[in-house]
Amino acid sequence: MKKMLPQFPTFFRLLFEKYFGSSGKTDSPYWVIQNRNPANNGCTVHAGRVLATWEAGWAYQLQLPSLETRGLFDFNGSWTDGAVTDNCSAHGKQDPETGQLITISYNMIELPPWLRVITVSAEGTLENTVKIPLPSGAALLHDFGITSSRVVLNVGPLNLVPMKMVTGAPPFDYDFSAKCYFGILNRSSKSSDDVIWIEAENCFNFHVLNAYDDPADPDRVVVHTFRQDYTLGLGMGSKLHEEARASPHGQRLQGDTAVLHRWVLDVKEAKVVESTRLHSPPEEASRSWLSDFGAVNPHFVGRPHRYGWSLGFASEIQQGAPVPEGSVARFTKVLKHDLATGKLLDILLLA
Ligand SMILES: [Fe+2]
Repeated sequence: MKKMLPQFPTFFRLLFEKYFGSSGKTDSPYWVIQNRNPANNGCTVHAGRVLATWEAGWAYQLQLPSLETRGLFDFNGSWTDGAVTDNCSAHGKQDPETGQLITISYNMIELPPWLRVITVSAEGTLENTVKIPLPSGAALLHDFGITSSRVVLNVGPLNLVPMKMVTGAPPFDYDFSAKCYFGILNRSSKSSDDVIWIEAENCFNFHVLNAYDDPADPDRVVVHTFRQDYTLGLGMGSKLHEEARASPHGQRLQGDTAVLHRWVLDVKEAKVVESTRLHSPPEEASRSWLSDFGAVNPHFVGRPHRYGWSLGFASEIQQGAPVPEGSVARFTKVLKHDLATGKLLDILLLA
C-alpha cells in the first residue's frame, strides 16, 4: 500500500483530466497513459497538407516547405462528433482512386471501449464517422486496412489494465486465451450495426501491409498483416510472468517480432477461411524472414497487389536471439515480397 499511494494522485488526476478537463476540447488525447501529443508516429500527405500523426492524440498540420506547425487538422473546419478530440492512427490510408483519407481513432477508458472510423474527402473535409463498440475488452489498436469498398479493422488481445499504472507498471497485458478479431465495415456505411466481426486465432497484428476485395469472390477479403504469436506491447506491456514465457504456444518467446501473414476472410460467413504464414519461423533457415513495417506501392492501396516491402529484423533476431525486454528489435534489411508466390524476392542488407 505504501508503494501504491504515491501513484494514486497522478493516476486519478490524469483520469479526471481526460474525462472532464479536456473532453470536448481540441488536442485532448484520450489515453490516461500519456498527457501530451508529440505527433511523431507517422507522416501523411493529403489534400495539400502534411499531417504529423500520433495515435494517442489528434493529427497536426504542417506547412510546406517550412514544416511550421499550423495547428490541429480540423477537416477545413468541418469536424463534428468530437472527431478532432479523438486520437488518430499513424497509419491512415489514402484511396488511390477517390483520394479519400481513411483513419481510425479509439478510446479504451470509456465504457464500452470503442473505435471510430473517420473518412475524409479528397479535399480534406470530414465525410463520415462511425463509432463502433469494440468486440472485446479495452484493447490497444494500431493499424487497419481498406479495400475499394470496405474498411478492415483488427483488434488483438493487448488489453489496458488501468490499475497497473497505480504501481507504475506498463499498463498493457497480452491475453493468451482471447481471440483476435477482424471487423469488416462497408466504407459507405454510417452505422456500427453494419460491422461484421470475424473471430481469428489468438495472435496480434500491429501492422497491415494491405487488404483488398478478392476479385474471384465478392464475399471475401484478403488481408496481409505482420502477425505476431503474442506481443509484449513494444515496451508498453507488463513483463510476462516466467510461467507465461515458458510458452503458451509451445515455443520459446522471443519478444516482439512478426512474420508476413495472409488472411482470407469470408464476410458473408463471418469466418476466417485462410490463415497462412508466408515466411516460416527461424527453424527453417531458408525462409526465416521476420519483418514488419510494410508498404505497398501507393497506387495499390486497397487493391490486389503482387509486391510488398518490409523492414527485416537484424540477423541475430532472425536466428532466434531474444529481443531485450521492453525494447524494439533492430531492423537492418529491406525485404521485397512476392505475394503471388509467397517468396522473398530481394534482400537489401543495411548492416
Ligand atoms: Fe505503426
